Amino acid sequence: MMKSPIYLSLIDAEETHKVRHPILRKGRPVASCVFENDLDPDTLHLGAFEKDLLVGVLSAYRRPHPDFAHQNSYQIRGVAVLEDHQKKGIGRLLMSSIEEKLLEKSIDFIWLNARIAAVPFYQQLQYTVHGDVFDIPPIGPHFCYFKCLR
Ligand SMILES: CC(C)(COP(=O)(O)OP(=O)(O)OC[C@H]1O[C@@H](n2cnc3c(N)ncnc32)[C@H](O)[C@@H]1OP(=O)(O)O)[C@@H](O)C(=O)NCCC(=O)NCCS
Repeated sequence: MMKSPIYLSLIDAEETHKVRHPILRKGRPVASCVFENDLDPDTLHLGAFEKDLLVGVLSAYRRPHPDFAHQNSYQIRGVAVLEDHQKKGIGRLLMSSIEEKLLEKSIDFIWLNARIAAVPFYQQLQYTVHGDVFDIPPIGPHFCYFKCLR
């Protein structure tokens, strides 16, 4: 069977919940899908669509990391792909597209807190680990990863 093409588009904050909820906040109230600064004018929400179905999301927030001097910096959060669509390159597409968009905005530094299960994904995408494992309750252990864009 022929694979359907994936297309990417900016979406609004609430639309991200369709993927955030089953993948990142499973079994918890939908309200737990609302992240701080989701509605800030600088925040970007990106969706990956297969036909009309939203299958992947990520969000990017203008926010420096306290350990780094880079002020032109964004944090990536809420990276998620629907289970049946994982490991098909959609996460990689979303990440490379947001990197391009942020470069266009003269952003030079991206950082994120990765769940342990997602560490190989960010390593594959050439992100570098910073510091030791730490806990984000109630989600669990995370590592900080970063990438300099220029
Ligand atoms: C992590 C996640 C976003 C990755 O998206 P995806 O569409 O499945 O990833 P891709 O298919 O684009 O993978 C890109 C590369 O990373 C690798 N990769 C992805 N997930 C991996 C994993 N769990 N273990 C090892 N490698 C992995 C892929 O093999 C691929 O490498 P390749 O191109 O050399 O084959 C997705 O699996 C997901 O939603 N997981 C659950 C939620 C989550 O943990 N989100 C991250 C929160 S920090």
